[in-house]
Amino acid sequence: MVRSIGSDRINAGVFISGTGSNLENLIKFSLNKKLPININLIFSDKYNAKGLRFAKKYKIKKKIYLFKNKMNDEKKILKVLKKNKIKLICLAGFMKILSKNFIKKFDGKIINIHPSLLPKYKGLKTHERVLQNKEKFSGCTVHYVNSKLDSGKIILQKKVKIRKNDTVDKLSKRILKQEHKIFPEAIKKIMPNL
Ligand code: GAR
Repeated sequence: MVRSIGSDRINAGVFISGTGSNLENLIKFSLNKKLPININLIFSDKYNAKGLRFAKKYKIKKKIYLFKNKMNDEKKILKVLKKNKIKLICLAGFMKILSKNFIKKFDGKIINIHPSLLPKYKGLKTHERVLQNKEKFSGCTVHYVNSKLDSGKIILQKKVKIRKNDTVDKLSKRILKQEHKIFPEAIKKIMPNL
């Protein structure tokens, strides 16, 4: 089935822990109808996540769960997701690991963006490790979330060339630019399966 943009939109929730540049990018794509999703909910595990300001800016409901008791919080989140008929979860710089049980309940409907060319450099501090190892390329990956960290099926990837005098800051900015391109593309790609 091919979903035509503008008619058959699905509800999506975005999980963040930090700045939220990917979140805002996805919101813009949804608002100018370049993506057939409505972002109805923003979740965060941090009260002070900078990206939460986009909830106010774009009038989107926000929910904060600190994940101190992961099972309890996930139960509450699942209720909210059901109530709001959320069909897609985008992890956009969300730094908590979701439980197997949670992932099973949303099997095939949770996607994550990671700042490396997976399967290389799973986990944290990717840019530091890439530079230390003198890699020629890094990049970013959008993948389905499964029960193993950064290991689900890859949806899209984009390579970024490492430059001679690269720093973590410079490299992460160049990779982030590419993230903003491939995250919406990846959502378009999987829409028929949602
Ligand atoms: C992005 O670079 C994303 O790939 C990364 O956090 C950053 C969030 O930026 N995610 C991870 O490292 C997940 N393990 P943003 O808050 O500006 O979208």
